[in-house]
Amino acid sequence: MVDALYAEPREITDPEQCSYYHSMDIPGHGEVHGFFDLRSSVDEYLGPVDFAGKRVLEIGPGSGFLTFEMEKRGAEMVCVELSEDKPWDYVPYQHPQFDEWLEGQREYMHRQRNGFWYAHAAVQSKARVHYGSAYHLPKELGRFQIATMAAVLLHNRDPLGIIANCAQITDERLVIVEQHDRQQVEGGAADLRLVPNRDNQMVHTWWHISPELLRQYLPVLGFQVVHESTHVEQFASVPGEAGEPLEHFTLIADRR
Ligand SMILES: C[S@@+](CC[C@H](N)C(=O)[O-])C[C@H]1O[C@@H](n2cnc3c(N)ncnc32)[C@H](O)[C@@H]1O
Repeated sequence: MVDALYAEPREITDPEQCSYYHSMDIPGHGEVHGFFDLRSSVDEYLGPVDFAGKRVLEIGPGSGFLTFEMEKRGAEMVCVELSEDKPWDYVPYQHPQFDEWLEGQREYMHRQRNGFWYAHAAVQSKARVHYGSAYHLPKELGRFQIATMAAVLLHNRDPLGIIANCAQITDERLVIVEQHDRQQVEGGAADLRLVPNRDNQMVHTWWHISPELLRQYLPVLGFQVVHESTHVEQFASVPGEAGEPLEHFTLIADRR
């Protein structure tokens, strides 16, 4: 079924049908606001990676800011994003309003995919998108030199499975960006800290992943950590409103 491997670009003529995860400057349209503004920190966020001439697998592009930035730096981009029929790996809260909330999320995700395609056309991107899930990467996607998993593992119940899936088809380098939980780091343990509890309703986030866990796990998969950094991004809980600092870490590992 190689024909259905990549999505046909959506033609979005009405910008009102779009939402954005990232703040971006869209040529011919102007500035749009998202939850994260990575415009001044993209190189820190992705780490010191030379994308020129590389075939790059990006898990979870969201509205695509990083996709288009990696492409600008010379990458051939293949994105894997959740499809309309594969919902986010939500924490299954037993809450009377859960289904209603899920419906709102579905609508948001649809609008975010529209935002991706609207910006994709505006920047004349050649990035291809496979709609599916990082839990199953079809072998027809081929092999990659680099795979990026930025702000995506924490949202999945089996982040270690996703890293292994990417590692299996990546020849050179894995780039992982995750939230940096200072309390967890102080403990120094190789752990996944469960985020949701009965009160916080963290329906979209499963884990805080410690850098130590990745340092221990990546060599198991044949990769060696070559770079680690932390950095602070601006996160706006409501797009367009003032952001608050949120710390991430970036870890780069090369195939041995
Ligand atoms: C928090 S956003 C991060 C966007 C971008 N990577 C960044 O770092 O700015 C997470 C994205 O990953 C996607 N995603 C979550 N789980 C996924 C999975 N199992 N397979 C593919 N994409 C996934 C979501 O739909 C969303 O677009």
